[in-house]
Amino acid sequence: MGEGMRRVKVTVVGAGNVGGSIAQRLAEKNWYDIVLVDIVEGMPQGKALDLVEAGPVCAYDSAVTGANSYEITKDSDLVIITSGIPRRPGMSRDELLETNTNIVSSVVRETAKRSPDAILIIVSNPLDVMTHVASRVSGFPRNRVIGMAGVLDSARFRSFIAEALEVSVENIHAMVLGGHGDSMVPLIRYTTVAGRPINEWLSPDILDALIKRTREGGAEIVNLLKTGSAFYAPAASVVEMVEAITKDQKKILPCAVLCEGEYGFHDLVLGVPVKLGANGAEAIMEYALTTEERTALEDSAQAVRELCEEVNQMMKKTA
Ligand code: LAC
Repeated sequence: MGEGMRRVKVTVVGAGNVGGSIAQRLAEKNWYDIVLVDIVEGMPQGKALDLVEAGPVCAYDSAVTGANSYEITKDSDLVIITSGIPRRPGMSRDELLETNTNIVSSVVRETAKRSPDAILIIVSNPLDVMTHVASRVSGFPRNRVIGMAGVLDSARFRSFIAEALEVSVENIHAMVLGGHGDSMVPLIRYTTVAGRPINEWLSPDILDALIKRTREGGAEIVNLLKTGSAFYAPAASVVEMVEAITKDQKKILPCAVLCEGEYGFHDLVLGVPVKLGANGAEAIMEYALTTEERTALEDSAQAVRELCEEVNQMMKKTA
């Protein structure tokens, strides 16, 4: 194969449930070569080999390689970072702050220098803050540092609406903006079922209950699993973003990116509608917001800002 004919190279750091599910979904696309990296000896190698052995059955030739170090991640097109400790029942995403800041900083340092042109997708929690950390540590332009949360939160909201209305999930469009936390902002006015606004389908009481369930969607799963957090829907959400980028789809999805004036936010990573294409986050779409929606987004932004300030202090100390 000539230059430019190679498959898309994707590194997935963290070979736990999220990383493993991402690798599987990507392998099945038969379009990516995947490198799985984890500090646990043998684990990424084992999962990679298992995925290679599924190839003949699932009809893919994707290369999947596992490693405990970063050499083989060199020249990745995309680096997906899932490393970090997950929540346990009763823990908030924010309680992961210090541990995951250290882990994500080190992973970004190791991968960014070996793949200086890569697009980074961050999955570690607290999501918006870890995306901020990745942005600072990598020094990459903001179109190449993208956090995954809005796609997941919107998918949860869509699945709850589909269940309540007994209609296909495919009929439902939704945009959940803001931070990936309890103050996330599901935009009712921009949520539609087969093109018709959601408030013409569901009463305010029912809608409020679905919004509450969406906000607590991550915790609902943590409480059920007891040992770890969600991974099927998070992995599927990452893969939708990866496909939008590598196929240059120009797909508009809610993603966490660095705002530099958009929505009135400066130097702050927050979930906003983003156009994803070959260059990563190619544009931020600015929706008109009502006073109420804006207040909700500002509250969510404030929660993220406070954690980012904490992280900045931490990073200063260790620098
Ligand atoms: C969730 C966690 C992983 O939302 O943030 O499921």
